[in-house]
Amino acid sequence: MSKQADLIVGLQWGDEGKGKIVDHMAQTHDYVCRFAGGHNAGHTIVVEGKKYALHLIPSGVLNPEAKNIVGNGVVLSPRDFIEEMSQFEDLEGRLFISDKAHLLLPYHAAIDQARERMKGDKAIGTTGKGIGPAYGDKVARVGHRVGELHHPRRLADKILAHFEMNRPVFEAMGVETPDAQELYHELVEYREALEPFITDTTLLVWKALDEGKRVLLEGAQGTMLDIDHGTYPYVTSSTTVSAGACSGLGLNPKDIGKVTGIAKAYCTRVGNGPFPSEDFGEEGERLRQNGHEFGTTTGRPRRCGWFDAVAMRHAVRINGVDQVALMKLDVLDGFEKIKVCVAYEFEGERIDYVPYDLEGAKPVYRIFDGWEKTEGARSFEELPETARAYIEALEEMIGCRMGIISTSPDREDTIVR
Ligand code: GDP
Ligand code: IMO
Ligand code: MG
Repeated sequence: MSKQADLIVGLQWGDEGKGKIVDHMAQTHDYVCRFAGGHNAGHTIVVEGKKYALHLIPSGVLNPEAKNIVGNGVVLSPRDFIEEMSQFEDLEGRLFISDKAHLLLPYHAAIDQARERMKGDKAIGTTGKGIGPAYGDKVARVGHRVGELHHPRRLADKILAHFEMNRPVFEAMGVETPDAQELYHELVEYREALEPFITDTTLLVWKALDEGKRVLLEGAQGTMLDIDHGTYPYVTSSTTVSAGACSGLGLNPKDIGKVTGIAKAYCTRVGNGPFPSEDFGEEGERLRQNGHEFGTTTGRPRRCGWFDAVAMRHAVRINGVDQVALMKLDVLDGFEKIKVCVAYEFEGERIDYVPYDLEGAKPVYRIFDGWEKTEGARSFEELPETARAYIEALEEMIGCRMGIISTSPDREDTIVR
């Protein structure tokens, strides 16, 4: 009987701790599938004290029994992918790349960085990895798919023709035309390294579900970075919400079963754009230090602030979240008072939903009592009473149960209620 897939999705602005939960759940799943984004994602996973940084390879790679799929919704940089693969052995037979995923090539990163420079203080604060230009080419129908790596000569010619056609634009941005020979050799190298992994992953995931295998769908980024539902234009270029799992893997909505949304017990954001519950003071700094809030991908300090219950309710609805995994509760240890954003104010007017534009929204806070220590707790009963009250109040505000609570980076320090 065909089973439904379980789905994991970020509910804030990314870096919620998805990697830890995907890794946790991968222990009981046969397949882990990435459906969107590229190497802008950075997932840190700690297993028995050893740290792994993953960007493109699904977090199931740390479970030797799990098979890992990179879906068609991903933009894949062969160069970065090959480097990431080198951390692991014996990937053949447990890593599969969709032939329909789009290629992200060095010129995409060059365009991304040039555009950011040209925007000056209006910059999005992208990771500079080329994500926007790669998805842009896909949508403009001038992109190249992974399957084209089978024919490097043909692909090289198409890329050079693209440069020829857009010469003035590339010149204005200072993006150099690749040398024909070098480009060809580079593509041949990519083909050699990746060919054993390239396949029709849509058929593969259908077969897995038909055979009753347990499939986990791994989101990247977060709901508020979604191209349609995030804080546009300060977003990434993919569909990060659960709907993206369908188009990004070739599934239909009925294939999706339980949805687990990942959220921190506070909130962070990297890059520019509105963040109503941002704390610019000492407490924000303390969250940054306690939570080691520096990017996995770019090392940038993350902007820190408080749990935003308004944005979270929006995220729960848009993703169809069945349970929330509340991460990094321990980072709030030792705070005397903890704030939660319960509404926004715009020039005196109070609203309790996410509007068209969050720019200028002032947070309305509800204040909670803090606690001494939750770090390392492995059962709900072990948590201090004020921490339990905090969690129960959040559940009430967002209309969703928090079935998983995380109290340290380690795989074992996870409360499953
Ligand atoms: P992702 O992009 O959503 O996978 O999240 P990141 O890996 O970018 O950022 C989350 C960071 O928090 C990582 O460094 C994790 O090791 C760490 N982390 C995850 N869960 C917990 C937790 O419960 N407590 C603490 N202190 N750190 C955690
Ligand atoms: P994970 O999967 C946090 C942010 C960038 C920038 C905006 C656009 O680790 O949660 P892009 O390079 O995608 O064009 O940048 O999106 N961003 C992320 N922020 N976590 C991520 O991924 C992110 N991926 C992109 O900082 O603001
Ligand atoms: Mg991250």
